Order: sequence, then C-alpha cells, then structure tokens
Amino acid sequence: MCGIVGYVGKRQAAPVLVEGLSKLEYRGYDSAGVAIINDGNLNVTKCKGRLKNLENELNRNPVAGSIGIGHTRWATHGQPSNFNSHPHCNEKGTISVVHNGIIENYIELREWLTGKGHKFLSETDTEVIPHLIDYFYEGDLLDAVIKTIKKIEGSYAIGVVSSLEPDKLIAVRKDSPLIVGLGKDEYFIASDIPAVLNYTRDIYLLEDNEFVVINKEGVELLSANKEKIERDIYHVTWNADAAEKGGYEHFMLKEIHEQPKVIKDTMTSRVMPGKPITLDDIKITKEQIQNIDKIYIVACGTAYHAGIVGKYVIEKLAKIPVEVEVASEFRYREPLINKNTLMMVISQSGETADTLAALRETKALGARVLAVTNVVGSTVSREADDVLYTWAGPEIAVASTKAYETQLVAMYIIALFFAENKNILSKEQIEILKEEILNIPEKVNKVLENEKSIKNFASKVYEYKDMFFLGRGLDYAVAMEGSLKLKETSYIHSEAYAGGELKHGPIALIEDGTAVVTIATQDYLFEKMVSNIKEVKTRGAKVLALAMEGSSNVEKTADEVIYIPQVNSLFAPLLAVIPLQLLAYYTSVKKGCDVDKPRNLAKSVTVE
Ligand code: F6R
Repeated sequence: MCGIVGYVGKRQAAPVLVEGLSKLEYRGYDSAGVAIINDGNLNVTKCKGRLKNLENELNRNPVAGSIGIGHTRWATHGQPSNFNSHPHCNEKGTISVVHNGIIENYIELREWLTGKGHKFLSETDTEVIPHLIDYFYEGDLLDAVIKTIKKIEGSYAIGVVSSLEPDKLIAVRKDSPLIVGLGKDEYFIASDIPAVLNYTRDIYLLEDNEFVVINKEGVELLSANKEKIERDIYHVTWNADAAEKGGYEHFMLKEIHEQPKVIKDTMTSRVMPGKPITLDDIKITKEQIQNIDKIYIVACGTAYHAGIVGKYVIEKLAKIPVEVEVASEFRYREPLINKNTLMMVISQSGETADTLAALRETKALGARVLAVTNVVGSTVSREADDVLYTWAGPEIAVASTKAYETQLVAMYIIALFFAENKNILSKEQIEILKEEILNIPEKVNKVLENEKSIKNFASKVYEYKDMFFLGRGLDYAVAMEGSLKLKETSYIHSEAYAGGELKHGPIALIEDGTAVVTIATQDYLFEKMVSNIKEVKTRGAKVLALAMEGSSNVEKTADEVIYIPQVNSLFAPLLAVIPLQLLAYYTSVKKGCDVDKPRNLAKSVTVE
C-alpha cells in the first residue's frame, strides 16, 4: 500500500509534495511525511494521522527547499505512528527514503546491519533501505542504491534523496507502481498519475527494475547495469479535474453518477450495431478461443463479484465452463490448468498483490491470461497476454462503484466476443443483445432518478445493526456486491444469501425489524423470490425490494419497492447494483462515516 511522490525543480517542494500526496491518499492515509533538501541539509517532517496533520505541521514549521520526497502510509509493518511514518533515514540523517511495498527479507537484513552496529528507530521493513544505502555508499548514491536493491527481496517503489548528493533524486520500482512526471524544468515521481497532473501531462511509465536519476537538468532512466533506457512519453489525455470531486459531496457519489458515461466509454468502438465486437487490444485468435476448454476468473473483493456475473454470462452466451475464485485462495492451491485454459484476472488498480500472484502462477503453468483492468500501464496490464481496459477513469473513493460497473460491461463484451467467435449465437441474436447493452447508459440514468427514495430508505435503516441481501441467479451476485458495499462504507454488519439458502440456516437470524434487501429482477426466478420475501416478512423483517418495472406484485409483499427499467434480465445487474451503491452511500453519510476513506481500508491492496 502507500503512495510516494518526489519533486525536483524550482518551486518550493513542500506544497508540491503535499498536494501530490493529497491525490494519493486513496492508497493509504494513516500517516504522512516529507524529506526536503535545503542548502545541503536534509529535513524530515512526518506525522501520524491524515495528511492534514502534516500540512499543519509544515505550516507551523515551514521547510524550504526545491528537492524532496513524500509519502502517505497504510501500515503493514508497525502500527501507524510518528516513528513508523516515512520518510526513513540512516542514523546520520543524511539519506532519506520513501517506500511503497514490502521488503520480505527485512528481518534478516536488520539483524545483519545490527551486527554491523546500525541502530533502528522504527518497526518498519523500510528502514533497512536507508541503512543499506548508507552501508554501501562510497561516493556515488546511484551505485549505493543499486547495491541495496540487489540485497532486498520483495516489492518496492522507492524514492531516495540525500544531503551527500543534494541535487539528486533517485527512484526505482519492482512490483509496485511508479511514474515519472516530466514538467518544464521540473520533474516528479509518483505512485499514480493524478499526483502530478496539476503540473504535467507527460509521463514515463516505469517498468520493474528500472532506476531513475533526476536532477534539475533532467531525467535519466537506467537499468541495474547503468545502461540508458529509452522510453516513449505517455501523454495523459484525461482531465486533471476528472480526479476531483466535481461538485459532489464525496467522490463515491460523483463516481456513482459517472456510471452512464463510463459504461458508454467502455463500449465505445467495441460494441457497434451491425459490426462484430471489436477488441483491438486483444490478440487471442479465433482458433485459440475455439480451443478454450475452461476459464478461470480470478480477482478480489468487488472485482471478484464482477467475475461471478462474468461466469453467468460467459457460460450462457459462449458456452464455456467458467470457475470464479478469489485470488488469495487460487494462488495457494494447485488449480488444473493446461494450454487450453484461459485465465481472466479482473483488477481495477491492476496492482492487487494476490491477483498479480495468481496471474504469475497461471502464466508459469502455460495458460493464456486476459486481464480486465482500469489502469493503463499497471503491472497486471503489462504482464497479461491480453488486456481489456475498462474506461472508468480514476476511481478515488475506496469503495468501488464505477469500476465495478465497467468490469461488468467488460464481462458482457467478452462473453459476446467469445460467442461470436465460437459461432454459438446467430448474428440476429447478437444484434439483439448488443442493442440491449447499448441502451444501458440511458437506463442507468433512469435508475439514478430514484436517488431520493433510496436516500429515504437509508434514513430509516441507518441505525440497524444488521442487514441482509437476498437474490437468486444473477441477483445473488448483485446481492453480494450490495452487501460488501454497505458493510465497507457504513460498518453495518451485512450478509448476502442465495434466496434458496434461506431455509438452510440464515432464516434463524430474521426477527422483528431485521432489514432485508431483496433483489428480484430475474423473470424466471421472480415467483421464487416473492416467496422468499413472504418468508422474511412473516418473521417481522423490514423489506426493500428491487424489481423490474411491471412486476407490481412485489408491492403487496415488500415494505418498499425500487423499480429498475425493463431490461433483458441477463443485463439486469448493470441496473440493479446502482440502488445498492446509493443505499450504501446514503447510509454511510447518515451515520457520519468517512465515506470515501472507510476505516482500515485502502484503495489498492498491493500487499498480501
Ligand atoms: C470494494 C473494493 C475492493 C476491491 C479489491 C480489488 O469496494 O474496492 O474490494 O475491489 O480490493 O481491487 P482491484 O480491483 O484494484 O484489484
């Protein structure tokens, strides 16, 4: 986890670093710090808690200087505290390091360094890095960093400044994201693009094991053998304010409302009436598709829930057996994989450690990997054989909404693409399905018009301790996502169950006033869901039902009903999830929770 930034230029570094960190708080926010060089001296300021604490401290005790590094932390090794905050230094206070990732052999290295007389101040894995650089320093900072990197195992994006070479910033990455921003006579490093967008749109996307040396004259990319690396500049075309709140009270609400647009963006030039599904980024051949005998979809959290929808639609449309599994389980078993297995990983960030590990395991066994990710240049996108980008834009709220929606769209597009290539469906059938999905953005707009009634329901149930989500078929997949969204944003205990499982245990939990959200959009399962609603109502539950327009029956049983527009029930998850996202959002607001940054969570889980 964590976000790092760095600056070399003519401006005062402190405000630039703090501003950059504010765009990276989604990566972690339990402490923050900066190290700035001024007149050959290295000054470190760091504080436990939100970035605001650091900002206040820098206002009280300003630090001058135009070269520096910064860090926003999500604790892994060592509690959030001033000591454990980054930047970390060597004992002499001449070398300072920010780090995102985990040094796996830090205990061994710490013992080795302690044996050589080094003393450590923190409990972190990171602190071994400045000590190693110190140990190896013989007059050349880059050489010392290269030697240090050879010693450490694990994942890292590292930024280093030193009063020994006060005009230089050195950075390196392996398995953690890092970009370089190229301004006019000023340069930046950052874990993610929004951190530099106020200054530049020209970016180098770093690869693993690449070193960057920055001074006021420019940027050099080097291999571990100090050979120069040429890299094309990636020009960012999305708006700086795409990463801002745009008038909404929270990023989560803004992102929920962006869904009609991002669905369209994700379909653009891929799903067109009268034309085959076009996936330019995907190189898999028709013959390879025809030979696929099994698909594994592997992901974490919300992305996993998108995968469950993927299983339903791919099996239904393309007639390929699909298994869906959470990456942290998949990576540690021995899945049956052969050259005809297709592995699909879904990851908004493209940096989730477990998903990445599962991808690598599978590739090593010879299977092809298709990645669905939202971040261009992310590690997942670089390591997969094929990539289908979701065009959700930067998602800042920790709770995923628009990225999930575009992941669903990706599942439908892939299912249609496979169905077409396997000649499973006729052209006419495919055209009808394409028309359905092309109409979804407009229907999502209609669902969003119901915002007030959902807000109203949230105001009735926000004090509840427990909530249950019930659904069958695709609605069960949506129930899981609705339940996750509620618990992570409002801290209400919630569970999702398949309607048919109710009598096998969960019904024992239903009592007077238990809140139950039932999803009943699947026409062939509708009556079964109505029976489930009756079962929980009889036991005193307060029921909010989600149903398709025209299923007015449901009003006779549920306390409140939210309707979604008529749609082929295969595509209903794209609409049904929206009221559940809004329910989570308004419940969280009503409870006074930190909507965009729920406790204990970070946006991108880059450690196991
Ligand atoms: C929940 C949420 C998480 C992520 C999960 C995977 O709202 O956002 O459950 O879905 O951490 O993250 P990515 O998709 O970046 O791999």
